[in-house]
Amino acid sequence: MSPGRLLRIAVAGTGAFGLNHLRVYRELPGAELVAAIEPNPGRAAEVEEQYSIPVFPTVDAALRADLKLDAASVAVPTIYHHAVASELLNAGVDCLVEKPLAATLAEADDLIAIADRNGCVLQPGHLERFNPAVLAIEPQLTRPMFFEAHRLSVFTPRALDVDVVLDLMIHDLDIVLTFARSPVREVRAVGLPILSPKVDIANVRVEFESGCVANFTASRVSTERVRKLRFFEPRRYVSVDYARRDLLVIAVDPGFSLENALALGEAGGFAEGLPGLSFSKPTVASGEPLKLEVSSFLESVRARMTPKVTARQGREALALALEIQRVMVDHAERAGLGNFFNPTGL
Ligand SMILES: NC(=O)c1ccc[n+]([C@@H]2O[C@H](COP(=O)([O-])OP(=O)(O)OC[C@H]3O[C@@H](n4cnc5c(N)ncnc54)[C@H](O)[C@@H]3O)[C@@H](O)[C@H]2O)c1
Repeated sequence: MSPGRLLRIAVAGTGAFGLNHLRVYRELPGAELVAAIEPNPGRAAEVEEQYSIPVFPTVDAALRADLKLDAASVAVPTIYHHAVASELLNAGVDCLVEKPLAATLAEADDLIAIADRNGCVLQPGHLERFNPAVLAIEPQLTRPMFFEAHRLSVFTPRALDVDVVLDLMIHDLDIVLTFARSPVREVRAVGLPILSPKVDIANVRVEFESGCVANFTASRVSTERVRKLRFFEPRRYVSVDYARRDLLVIAVDPGFSLENALALGEAGGFAEGLPGLSFSKPTVASGEPLKLEVSSFLESVRARMTPKVTARQGREALALALEIQRVMVDHAERAGLGNFFNPTGL
């Protein structure tokens, strides 16, 4: 591939999130948006008009049009990720597949095998890895031992093909797996369907082999929108606000003595807080996570490199999400929640 050539891109699925992919490809240098794939005729007509590109009802129709595609974003509902991405990868088209990589491990494994066989780049859309707050704190991690993740949304009738674990919690599962760097030892989970037939609110505790523990709460039936991850490392607390894209770090000064701190603090009436603690708000670069994610994908496509977020990491996050679903089913059975609990059915 010549380094200066524009990469020819298609976006499959032009719903709520696919529209963001379209916009970002249009705004980024180095890419030429050449087509979209969208079976909904009304939506297809809108995209055709707004972006002046052909919109095909199926992947097959787009491939038959001989568009010489280099790469595509797959932003169709999760249950169709495998069908759409496998067709593209089999045609040699590199894919950025929205999270979660697929709906089942068999599907994820198949996508990975097809990508490997065809020498294609396959990147799962774990967007928060490109959140500037995450990019700023990641190189400074020492040994996170306790995580508390909250991801709450108000209800919207979208992503109802999956439960809240595959819809929202998957972001935090991927980040914590990346930060904890240890295999999962034990999962405990409770989930409840509230408005949809699938789990809409879930609380999960994961313990890692390293002894690190993570608590996750995800809800799509909340009254407020929250996107936060807090974690403790030895002598340091970090709070990441994904939505505000900022960080708060509280560190215990080297040589800290609680006795001295209490004596000093008392003398000052604790007006300045506890002496010996430093509060900082590390600098976070500006940048839209999706733009950073898509740019990184395009770089991998151009350089034929393994992407920053690998398909195997996408599979790992999916494996944990599916284990959480299994544990939630066990819990629901123990609690006698019966038929009203159906996290994986449609
Ligand atoms: N990274 C994030 O933060 C984030 C946020 C929202 C959604 N997502 C992901 O994006 C994906 C889409 O979510 P959404 O909220 O945009 O859903 P949506 O229902 O709004 O849009 C999906 C679109 O895909 C189209 N579609 C269905 N089957 C298709 C097929 N076979 N080929 C092409 N198009 C097809 C539908 O007609 C619809 O227009 C999901 O995987 C979701 O998890 C990611």
